[in-house]
Amino acid sequence: MTFNKIAALAFAGVMTLGVVATVAQDTFVAPTTPEAAVAAREALMKSNGATLKAAGALTGPEAAAAMQTLLDNFTHMPATFTEGSIVGDSEALPAIWQNWEAFNAIIETGKTAAADGMAAAETGDMTAYGVALKTIGGTCGTCHQQFRAK
Ligand code: HEC
Repeated sequence: MTFNKIAALAFAGVMTLGVVATVAQDTFVAPTTPEAAVAAREALMKSNGATLKAAGALTGPEAAAAMQTLLDNFTHMPATFTEGSIVGDSEALPAIWQNWEAFNAIIETGKTAAADGMAAAETGDMTAYGVALKTIGGTCGTCHQQFRAK
């Protein structure tokens, strides 16, 4: 075997490991029943609350990890609001599906801010990190005001 072949095989092995690790990190499974949707978004929202609360005091890799969690949560959010899934103790309003684009626009704002916050944490730009946190916090309030029963 030539050196190049060995190197290529080693590289392929590293790439395979990388893919496996990436998949293993993100264990989200989209809910398929209304009950599962409500449970999934309650868990997701609780994670939002805990992560955002802690994020202000974090720096460096821990801050970046918090932003990754929020980015994942925003990314999965639409799938936890399957159409009409208001059952049990859900506080979701029908307005969500009547204004699906506006609902998703808030989520997109959150995604962008979480990605910005992650980049800021990685470069140690705590001013930009603070701005991102403020924007993320704003999306929580904006969405709850319009789309969550009080
Ligand atoms: C795009 C809309 C939207 C965004 C953005 C959003 N939420 Fe929510 N959130 C909701 C809705 C709707 C509910 C009610 C869900 C239900 O009860 O079915 C909710 C519920 C919650 C709950 C109660 C969960 C429970 O156990 O009943 C918490 C806590 C929460 N959100 C925190 C947050 C935080 C913190 C953020 C920002 C990082 C956030 N949310 C962003 C729409 C949103």
